[in-house]
Amino acid sequence: MSNPATPPAVGVLDERAPLTFPPGFLWGAATAAYQIEGAANEGGRTASIWDTFSHTEGRTVAGHTGDVACDHYHRLGDDVRLMAELGLKSYRFSVSWPRVQPGGSGPANAEGLDFYQRMVDELLANGIEPWLTLYHWDLPQELEDAGGWPARDTAARFADYALLMADALGDRVKYWTTLNEPWCSAFLGYGSGVHAPGRSDGADAVRAGHHLMLGHGLAVQALRTAVPGAQLGVTVNLYPVTPVSDSPGDVDAARRIDALANRFFLDPILRGAYPDDLVADLAKVTDFDHVHEGDLAVISSPLDVVGINYYSRHVVAAPIPGEQPEAYWRDQACWPGSEDVRFVNRGVPVTDMGWEIDAPGLVETLRRVHEEYTDLPLYVTENGSAFVDEVVDGQVDDVDRLAYFDAHLRASHEAISAGVPLRGYFAWSLMDNFEWAWGYTKRFGMIYVDYDKQTRIPKSSARWYAEVIRRNGLAAQ
Ligand code: FCB
Repeated sequence: MSNPATPPAVGVLDERAPLTFPPGFLWGAATAAYQIEGAANEGGRTASIWDTFSHTEGRTVAGHTGDVACDHYHRLGDDVRLMAELGLKSYRFSVSWPRVQPGGSGPANAEGLDFYQRMVDELLANGIEPWLTLYHWDLPQELEDAGGWPARDTAARFADYALLMADALGDRVKYWTTLNEPWCSAFLGYGSGVHAPGRSDGADAVRAGHHLMLGHGLAVQALRTAVPGAQLGVTVNLYPVTPVSDSPGDVDAARRIDALANRFFLDPILRGAYPDDLVADLAKVTDFDHVHEGDLAVISSPLDVVGINYYSRHVVAAPIPGEQPEAYWRDQACWPGSEDVRFVNRGVPVTDMGWEIDAPGLVETLRRVHEEYTDLPLYVTENGSAFVDEVVDGQVDDVDRLAYFDAHLRASHEAISAGVPLRGYFAWSLMDNFEWAWGYTKRFGMIYVDYDKQTRIPKSSARWYAEVIRRNGLAAQ
């Protein structure tokens, strides 16, 4: 891999002053249903694409599945107590669609709804604001069998499911996120196939991305009437994309990846149109005939908040004719039409996922969304890092993870100072969990989970975060 001619700014912000966040800043932590709940075959739940995928040989590291995960389904009370001990102001969780609507259509499953109703009641009783995500990747398998997200009807099914949740929880849940990271659902699920359902077809990935956004828009319209006063939003995962040099080829590579990773979703949702350059880049992959008249108006239905998940930056370089680039991002087929763009590893510090640590990239990302797209309140709905943890005398001293959070909170504060209406921050994750294709081999939690004994140990980062929440900011270092 080549070295950057002029390396962009990387690493942590070097400010070490005490910092106070605006009053009412929403301090939270996030999880997702399939990653923590377990109880895969209980309470009337049917299979999602992640059950099928993880049970298919060779799809996840060591064949790990979410069958048991953190057994959160049976440990709800204890886990909410841990959240209360941390002093969380909000908890972002996702609903398992096949738990509440087995098969993805038809009536609700009362037993499934009861689990989330108990959860929300316990959160509220502890003064923790529930933040509900409707879709964090676990599509009912029956809907995948009927075509999955590349099929238009899945969008309508999603809106029906949203209404069913509004009936069950609309009186108690104020914050509703439709989709978590539609880029991953579309381009990892149907492009490279490293995520469920594991299909690999560029045109299907683009169609899936469109129908996910259509489902989002239809759900927003349905929820707008069904839950008066709700704060409705979507969560996108954004990356600053930096060319490795200012040569025209590298700059164009960055433009292409930025279009696929970021603007594919930001532009339709916040501006009501696909970017022209994206459509041109994808001309050999699809003619966009899946976009019907009126879709973009639905997709750009007004929102109340925008959620941003931030982990790292992409640094890219022009293709070298005749050479297949090494797959930096797991498998290049997640970049349809631009598979030949090279992802450059600059040799800066990385997490256990191999993702570059780049806190200034969070400032850049938040500023971009605010300055180029919207005045809406923004929330960092996920940010965090995997590192190898060691239990020593019953304690986990995760200094690297703590430093990562510290740097990214300083970045969040810097964005606020620059005028970004950032209203909250959710650490990923509350606890170690099933990290998708990586199974249990990557730990992102502030709380350590011993999967054999199902015990929990708050790590140093958890104790530190509790103090951040208590003082509504960061102490001097
Ligand atoms: C995000 C996902 C989340 C988790 C983190 C590490 O892409 O939304 O479920 O896997 O990455």
